[in-house]
Amino acid sequence: MKILIMNGSPHPHGNTAGMIGTFKTAAEQAGHEVTVYSVCQKHIAGCRACEYCHTEGHGVCAQKDDMAELLALIQHAEMIVLASPIYYFGLSGQLQCALHRTYAIGVPQHVRKVAMLLSSGSDNVYDGALFEYRNTVDYWQAKDVGVVMAYGAQNGLDETKAAIRELVSRI
Ligand SMILES: Cc1cc2nc3c(=O)[nH]c(=O)nc-3n(C[C@H](O)[C@H](O)[C@H](O)COP(=O)(O)O)c2cc1C
Repeated sequence: MKILIMNGSPHPHGNTAGMIGTFKTAAEQAGHEVTVYSVCQKHIAGCRACEYCHTEGHGVCAQKDDMAELLALIQHAEMIVLASPIYYFGLSGQLQCALHRTYAIGVPQHVRKVAMLLSSGSDNVYDGALFEYRNTVDYWQAKDVGVVMAYGAQNGLDETKAAIRELVSRI
């Protein structure tokens, strides 16, 4: 399966990157093709709601930034993994902007499965991200493979890695 991981953390070696590394290794061992796209290393602005994409743009965004290459990856992906640090009880702003910009294409063509990896400082801060995730999975008419959350000292623990490997085994 072609898996696209959208990494919403600005830290190349941070907690979210650690979770992604575990996921990628396990998924590749299982024979999946994994691409990691780090939105914070790119220029992806917020949606301007100009509706160009839904009118004369015919699915192409009016803004000329890195979202065009991400949209191409999204259109080829069979599974999308949203990976993010929790910022103010939700996804990072950079990942949020990227998600909003998928407005240009509507429901991704081939995405059948979705999962999410979240890292935070504290426990019980996930409701906002989970609400958005579950509704996005429904909107995409995809299958929820699962969510792994790690807070504080759980980041990097063997049990967190085991939970991610278990999630991968369910793809
Ligand atoms: C702007 C900002 C907002 C944050 N908001 C929260 C929060 O609301 N709740 C929480 O538990 N942690 C919060 N954190 C902590 C991060 O979620 C946490 O350190 C996470 O593990 C960072 O992941 P990373 O190393 O991949 O960047 C925040 C961090 C930043 C920089």
